[in-house]
Amino acid sequence: MLKIENVHKAFGEVTVLDGVDLTIAPGEVVSILGSSGSGKSTLIRCINGLEMLKSGRITVDDFDVSKPKELAEARKRSGTVFQLFNLYPHMSALQNITLAPIEVLKMPRPEAEALARQLLESVGLADRANAYPAQLSGGQRQRVGICRALAMQPRYLLLDEVTSALDPEMTSEVLAILAKLAAQGTTMLFVTHEIEFAREISNRIVFLDKGRLVVDLPTDRFFAADGGRAQPRVAQFLSKMRKD
Ligand SMILES: Nc1ncnc2c1ncn2[C@@H]1O[C@H](COP(=O)(O)OP(=O)(O)O)[C@@H](O)[C@H]1O
Ligand SMILES: [Mg+2]
Repeated sequence: MLKIENVHKAFGEVTVLDGVDLTIAPGEVVSILGSSGSGKSTLIRCINGLEMLKSGRITVDDFDVSKPKELAEARKRSGTVFQLFNLYPHMSALQNITLAPIEVLKMPRPEAEALARQLLESVGLADRANAYPAQLSGGQRQRVGICRALAMQPRYLLLDEVTSALDPEMTSEVLAILAKLAAQGTTMLFVTHEIEFAREISNRIVFLDKGRLVVDLPTDRFFAADGGRAQPRVAQFLSKMRKD
């Protein structure tokens, strides 16, 4: 389980997460919706142990991200793909993907490379293994980013607006990969503005509003008029995001 318990986070005087509770069980796909500035990326960074909590607890399979001795184990269990392409520019796609398995998991290089090639093939990039990030399109870079996270064989895949910097065509190529992963049973925490896609692949949808998790419902209930939509903030958000 990935457990977020009563988490408070502040930057100086500004409260950014205000008592967030969220549990994700293996096999679940949970989407996080919420306006810009509501705290979605901060929550992902907290799960990665990149931010100090003011209070509360985050555990990944019982490893507490706030405890220095447990953080490495927690991190091995979750893989993150961020909004902005964060591949190492001086390394090829293959090197980007094999780096952590070799360095962190001590996987022998031939095995790591075989795994990387298999992952690249699964995202339609078998022929781009030796390309550098600058030689790849945005959509291709995000697909390599997904391979890099998957190469660590994480139990939980965290995705922070992975398509928001992409044009519609590249967005659909990346979403197709995520749909495939969801169908294979990959556990995912998915921060997105792609509401229709979230609706298709999620078991649950949660809504963050000014650092508070105000809705946590099964997907059908989230979109029902007497469910999530009954919350004015959710209704407002959904009408603003509608693409018509
Ligand atoms: N390192 C930081 N220092 C100060 N404020 C920050 C920092 N990171 C994020 N914030 C603030 O925290 C709030 C939530 O940001 P963020 O988690 O990025 O929201 P979202 O991803 O939902 O758009 C925003 O008001 C943002 O300005
Ligand atoms: Mg964000």
